Amino acid sequence: MKILSVVGARPNFIKIAPLLDGMKREGGFISRLVHTGQHYDDSMSRVFFDQLGIPKPDHYLGVGSSAAPIQVGQIMERFLPLCREEAPDAVLVVGDVNSTLACALVGAYSEVPVIHVEAGLRSRDRGMPEEINRVLTDQLSTLLFTTEASARDNLLKEGIASASVHFVGNVMVDTLFRFRRLADENSDILNRLGVRSRHFGILTLHRPSNVDRVEVLRPLLEALGGLARRLPIVFAVHPRTEKRIAELELSSLEAPFIRVAPLPYLDMLKLMDHARLVLTDSGGIQEETTALGVPCLTLRENTERPVTVEQGTNRVVGSRADRVILEAENILSQESIPGRLPELWDGETTGRILKILRAWK
Ligand code: UD1
Repeated sequence: MKILSVVGARPNFIKIAPLLDGMKREGGFISRLVHTGQHYDDSMSRVFFDQLGIPKPDHYLGVGSSAAPIQVGQIMERFLPLCREEAPDAVLVVGDVNSTLACALVGAYSEVPVIHVEAGLRSRDRGMPEEINRVLTDQLSTLLFTTEASARDNLLKEGIASASVHFVGNVMVDTLFRFRRLADENSDILNRLGVRSRHFGILTLHRPSNVDRVEVLRPLLEALGGLARRLPIVFAVHPRTEKRIAELELSSLEAPFIRVAPLPYLDMLKLMDHARLVLTDSGGIQEETTALGVPCLTLRENTERPVTVEQGTNRVVGSRADRVILEAENILSQESIPGRLPELWDGETTGRILKILRAWK
């Protein structure tokens, strides 16, 4: 079976790694990889390929950054001829980024079955491009692999046939379990940043809703800067956020943080594993902290990953500075917060997916 897999942005790399590795190890698959170039900085892309052992892409589309509709259009234009040339049995997409939707559209128009890994997550917030990408990608997909029970319910409500949906668990957790020990033994990030296990926090911000408007970003950085004077906070700054901080003239507010560029996978994993608290607006980090049992505050109004709140260590607290600080204080006043591993987040999701793929054709 020939599978044409697609990656574009940082979280895609973490999800595709175990699938490509599994296809190669178990045999029976011809695997081809396309990188759209949505993320192109070395720190957002190449370092993940190196650390996770992802093979060099067979095709690189080099789209770069632009507004979502333009980026989706450009990816489609470049992906179509090579989808024809490769003539795969299926196009495999992961997650919810613009590259995911663009290549799902090309597959569907070309009558090539689309496989979506991480289907059915819904925030019900169409203000986020990812929600549009999720809903449409799922409508275009033939096989849908889900990470949590809520996803099946969402898909069935949207008219997806039950037989197309397979609850398999979380490939991101496969990667995390595979690399956790290696990260702990090999990464010296705690020493390099001068932080002690369980005596620091981590902050990541990149959602347009948090970083594009000065009236949201300024109070957040001011308040979290106050917290950072009591608990060292490592602020890993996404390229988008870096640009906004400069444009909005907020650079002085970075002073209380331990400011670092986007971190390689192993350093980030080690940091999360040892953190007292993580503050983020990322989707993947909500899941990774739940898998690690580390408290997470999600600086958004909603989550498409409710299992991380219902069973894991995540709390959705919005982006208002006073509320975020209150919730952070609350966590710091407790020894630990209860959380358990969601069903099938066991590091064996790739095997389940490949088994279903083999039976499918
Ligand atoms: C994208 C995904 C988001 C995911 C995130 C992980 C979409 C709609 N969003 O958001 O779901 O959580 O990746 O990081 O697909 N930039 C660089 N270098 C890069 C990449 C980006 O400088 O290698 C800058 C550019 O100015 C760009 C901006 O960051 O305009 C945003 O990049 P983009 O890929 O559009 O979205 P992300 O915010 O990274």
